[in-house]
Amino acid sequence: MTDSRIARVRLGDDGPEVGVQGLGCMGMSWAYGPPDAEEARATLERALELGVTLYDTADAYGAGENERFLSPFFKAHRDEVVIATKFAISAPPDDPMKRVIRNDPPYIRSCVEASLKRLDVDVIDLYYMHRRDVNVPIEETVGAMAELVREGKVRHLGLSEVTAGELRAARAVHPIAAVQSEWSLFSRDIEANVVPAAKELGVALVPYSPLGRGFLTGSFSNADTDLTDQDFRRTMPRFTGENAAANQRLLDPIRTVAGAHGVSLAQIALSWVQQQAAVHGFPVVPIPGTTRRSRVEENVAATRIVLTEEELALLEPIVAKVAGDRYPDMTFASAGRE
Ligand SMILES: NC(=O)c1ccc[n+]([C@@H]2O[C@H](COP(=O)([O-])OP(=O)(O)OC[C@H]3O[C@@H](n4cnc5c(N)ncnc54)[C@H](OP(=O)(O)O)[C@@H]3O)[C@@H](O)[C@H]2O)c1
Repeated sequence: MTDSRIARVRLGDDGPEVGVQGLGCMGMSWAYGPPDAEEARATLERALELGVTLYDTADAYGAGENERFLSPFFKAHRDEVVIATKFAISAPPDDPMKRVIRNDPPYIRSCVEASLKRLDVDVIDLYYMHRRDVNVPIEETVGAMAELVREGKVRHLGLSEVTAGELRAARAVHPIAAVQSEWSLFSRDIEANVVPAAKELGVALVPYSPLGRGFLTGSFSNADTDLTDQDFRRTMPRFTGENAAANQRLLDPIRTVAGAHGVSLAQIALSWVQQQAAVHGFPVVPIPGTTRRSRVEENVAATRIVLTEEELALLEPIVAKVAGDRYPDMTFASAGRE
């Protein structure tokens, strides 16, 4: 019998081996409106059956709620899953929409202890700095993270939304398994500096929001009218007002390629990200987020699609025409500091 599970790949020179597509779990507790918890739990199980082993969360997702939600699944499958979580972003209790970013060693220590407790595990497999606090030297931050590896609280280190310079400085302190940054047909700024640096340093790329936060799937066209008040995308420049209408038109080439393969827009968007591994010659493990079994099946199937040179060329011009920034405040992202 052939194995129907997805291929596996090593995350960086010294990182863990994982299924070539991971699962973003943020939406199971936070950000994109109220999810169906029972379906989300079933989605985790289905993903594992299909060979997905990298599960992505953060202490910021629902102020710890997402880590608590995932804990029973992780405990039931501890030896089969690679648990990735993050520190650095929090919100004051009286202002949940505000973001406070901290990278100082005492804060990191308090975060790891809190995450281990919420996850109810002895060790975190991949621990990311979620965002850069430019007031703390990156060497100091990664030095504190390396301490956690030595103490056995964390197995591997990762960094999210860092610049190439920050990655180089971090790698000089400790091996880095993965950089997690936004990468999709709509968001390609990391290709200029971060991707070449990661490849050179033996660091894998874990693209987040590979479906453009759902926009590339065609499942919503304007956040103002199509999404609920609790949906974080209503604050994002690309999905609102005139930008949303302009960006909607950019889906046409994706539709054309999807039609040729007889697959969905989501699958073409994901196969494009997956194929960047071959284009750039280093490990790439996207973490599409979904809360539904049918979609995890669809997304995993995209790992088997291969786009031709002509199809890649058809998709190439999209990014230059995207209207609106990735975030309301781009200093929150690597491209805002590069
Ligand atoms: N490091 C960071 O700063 C950062 C930032 C953002 C996200 N992340 C991580 O990256 C993960 C993925 O990113 P994301 O969730 O922002 O965006 P995404 O993966 O680009 O898109 C997720 C959205 O697409 C929908 N979707 C998924 N598969 C679909 C399909 N086949 N057809 C139609 N719709 C589909 C999901 O809805 P349903 O649930 O209804 O399927 C959800 O609304 C997150 O879960 C999180 O773990 C990290």
